[in-house]
Amino acid sequence: MENEIEKQYQYMEKVKQIHNGKTKKYNIYTMGCQLNENDSEKISGMLEKMGYTKTQDLANADIVIFNTCCVRENAEDKLFGKIGEMKNVKQKNNTIIAIGGCMMQEEHIVNKLDTSYPYVDIIFGTHTLHKLPENIYHILKQREKIEDIMDIEGEVYEGLPIKRTDNVKASVTIMYGCNNFCSYCIVPYVRGRERSRKPVDILNEVEKLAKEGYKEITLLGQNVNSYKGGNGYTFSNLLYDVNKIEGIERIRFISPHPKDFTDDVIEAIAKCDKICKIVHLPLQSGSSNILKVMNRKYTKEQYISLAKKMQEKIPNIVFSTDIIVGFPGETEEDFEDTLDVVRKIKFEQVYMFIYSRRVGTPADKMENQIPDEIKHERFDRLKELVESQIRENNEKYVGTMQKVLVEGKSKNNPNMLTGRTDTNKVVNFEGNETLIHNIIELKIVSEHMWYLKGKIL
Ligand code: 5AD
Ligand code: SF4
Repeated sequence: MENEIEKQYQYMEKVKQIHNGKTKKYNIYTMGCQLNENDSEKISGMLEKMGYTKTQDLANADIVIFNTCCVRENAEDKLFGKIGEMKNVKQKNNTIIAIGGCMMQEEHIVNKLDTSYPYVDIIFGTHTLHKLPENIYHILKQREKIEDIMDIEGEVYEGLPIKRTDNVKASVTIMYGCNNFCSYCIVPYVRGRERSRKPVDILNEVEKLAKEGYKEITLLGQNVNSYKGGNGYTFSNLLYDVNKIEGIERIRFISPHPKDFTDDVIEAIAKCDKICKIVHLPLQSGSSNILKVMNRKYTKEQYISLAKKMQEKIPNIVFSTDIIVGFPGETEEDFEDTLDVVRKIKFEQVYMFIYSRRVGTPADKMENQIPDEIKHERFDRLKELVESQIRENNEKYVGTMQKVLVEGKSKNNPNMLTGRTDTNKVVNFEGNETLIHNIIELKIVSEHMWYLKGKIL
């Protein structure tokens, strides 16, 4: 297995030699979740080792990589639009086009690419990302289209280079794949079964990040609390061990599954001072009937009592969540149950999705699909409730002191700095650039829906 990665390092060297000291440019377009973002950081790491440097300008790029997501339908239209745009660019510059990620594990997508976009050079899947150097080498040698997709899950590869996008917050993938098969979700089909990285590899990576000056770590996986490190080593063991690493000041993790939220994890969150006191707890639906058909393995009542238990054991804990509206068969009463949970839990943040049919999933075959108008009408009602709660919740911050990790200059206003609270709220404030990358205390002076304004006292 390690040999495979050594082999890829040799290909990285060979590609670099082909470039013969010339500067080559890459552009990378990432869709979807933080796991994909983290994969793109690995793709960037490999490309930079091969002598490519990043450009935002497509027309200037020698290679363009698309890292795709297939969780919801709108991503498909977007991808095909972008690849269509690449046709002219390629004709002018002979750009290499590589497309990878979750969508490439779907047969109907690859068929469509083959027939309608034959000028794509490399198609790679979720289990063959590490072979990009080898594939690029072959394209450079002999311009013949490569499709490198495996249906079975690959090994967990360690040691790929990585070029991170941020220098104060970093994501660390702790496990790949998912075994849950929620009936709406395509992930288990495109990412394969759960595979956990070894604790030592994860801890070494976090230690290295701490030495490089990173302050915040997010542990990533489709289902982090079913992490299995071998010999009985659990997700809570990992949390305690990461908490001990000097230099790291904040630990987050996404996403846990409510059904696997064991007491030892709750205790770890309570005891580990660095773990942020916000937990992302995907609800999906507040209706026990819908949850059953979704194959989520908990009821409305169980979800609420889990949240209540955590509130009792972990002082000041708050929650964020994911909700899908318009799942097949969702009645007005079911939807009211979702609103009811939202009213009760008062989430810090809600990521709302309109149900999207995914080919190959059980929910796609259900006959009682919900008409678009109803889906949108429910989405709007949920959004209204969520936004009113966010406003109300923001008001509670006004006048309080908050610890903020300063991330950099505000994108919208370069005279302001921006950072986040432990609970992941954006705070903008006036301050000296030397504060960037530090955790400082600010007084919150006003709320503005999507951010808070702070003041140094
Ligand atoms: N339609 C809509 N939303 C979905 N999600 C996953 N699959 C679908 C789908 N088919 C949402 C879930 C999940 C989040 C990452 O995306 O809420 O938690
Ligand atoms: Fe999809 Fe469910 Fe697995 Fe999350 S837990 S990735 S929603 S199947």
